[in-house]
Amino acid sequence: MKLPDFPWDALAPYGQRARSHPQGAIDLSQGTPVDPTPDFIQAELRASANSPSYPVTTGSKELRDSLTRYAREILGASGEFDVLPTIGSKEMVALLPFLLEAKRILIPKIAYPTYRVGGMLAKAEVIEVDIDPSGWPTNDIDLVWLNTPSNPTGRVHSENEMGAVLDWSRANGIVIASDECYLPFPDKKSGISILKLASGDNKNLIALHSLSKRSNLAGYRAAFAVGDSAIISKLLEIRKHMGMMVPLPVQRAMSIALSDEKHVIAQGELYRNRRARLSLALLENGFKIENSESGLYIWCTRGEEDWQSVAWFAERGIIVTPGNFYGQAGNRHIRIALTATDAKIDEAAARIGKAL
Ligand SMILES: Cc1ncc(COP(=O)(O)O)c(C=O)c1O
Repeated sequence: MKLPDFPWDALAPYGQRARSHPQGAIDLSQGTPVDPTPDFIQAELRASANSPSYPVTTGSKELRDSLTRYAREILGASGEFDVLPTIGSKEMVALLPFLLEAKRILIPKIAYPTYRVGGMLAKAEVIEVDIDPSGWPTNDIDLVWLNTPSNPTGRVHSENEMGAVLDWSRANGIVIASDECYLPFPDKKSGISILKLASGDNKNLIALHSLSKRSNLAGYRAAFAVGDSAIISKLLEIRKHMGMMVPLPVQRAMSIALSDEKHVIAQGELYRNRRARLSLALLENGFKIENSESGLYIWCTRGEEDWQSVAWFAERGIIVTPGNFYGQAGNRHIRIALTATDAKIDEAAARIGKAL
């Protein structure tokens, strides 16, 4: 099987160009958190270092309780559902079509590349769609991916749009996998979990959440799935055989991290400020910002080919991502990640600003 080339390799020459800037490069290409892991979470990881026994795939009772509480109180889930810790959410995105034996799946037209890769790994047919389900195929479709707020566009799907997808799923008995890992960081709009919209009927629904960005825990690999108990039980059964267990010290750190929203609100404020400062500089330099309503990214265009914009930024020592990494429909846009320190974002805004 030929998987897509790892797209970041194509960006390397532009990274090299940016690094030759006299003041060094500012990397706004990968959405990897740079703010510290909160101290109280680090302390819990350290205190849990003695861990001689195997963890269980389904998660410790403490973690399961904390995931269940989070699903109810923060995501708005109700009714009957189950939870499952995952080793970051990327592995689950990549494995879900395989674990569900999906043969035809729908993914967003402009999307996180792993939705497509997961379909390919399962040898499934992958079909790109817009958010409106009225024209979606239903024949033999096993799974549809939603992503709100979106990577890369920062688009937040409205309740009406999500509701239409939910109705479509219920009418056709098709599983919705809703990747909601950027939900903790609202900006101009707040997203809503598919589980809240479901009002207690969680059949065929699974939501994916991650602490990578929420709590600056990307290095811990801490995430979870919530939803239809029958689906979770199927995933669990196979994952037990595969040894897909979250390490116990990480489970403890996750429980503690999920018990606090203050650090998440503070982190969200940092991202909102960074977005505002960078947006201003972009608008002043002829970029049009689209969507970018929430989450971690600015999605913008100057009406030119994406690589041309990437080169323009590289000249200024800034690395950004071409939109074609997320689908051909993105090839006149670029994605700018807000994952750099305030000082670096200010420096980036100044370098963009100097262009006029
Ligand atoms: C939309 C989306 N889903 C899932 C992930 C995976 O995140 P993690 O594996 O760190 O939980 C990412 C990471 O960037 C993402 O953008």
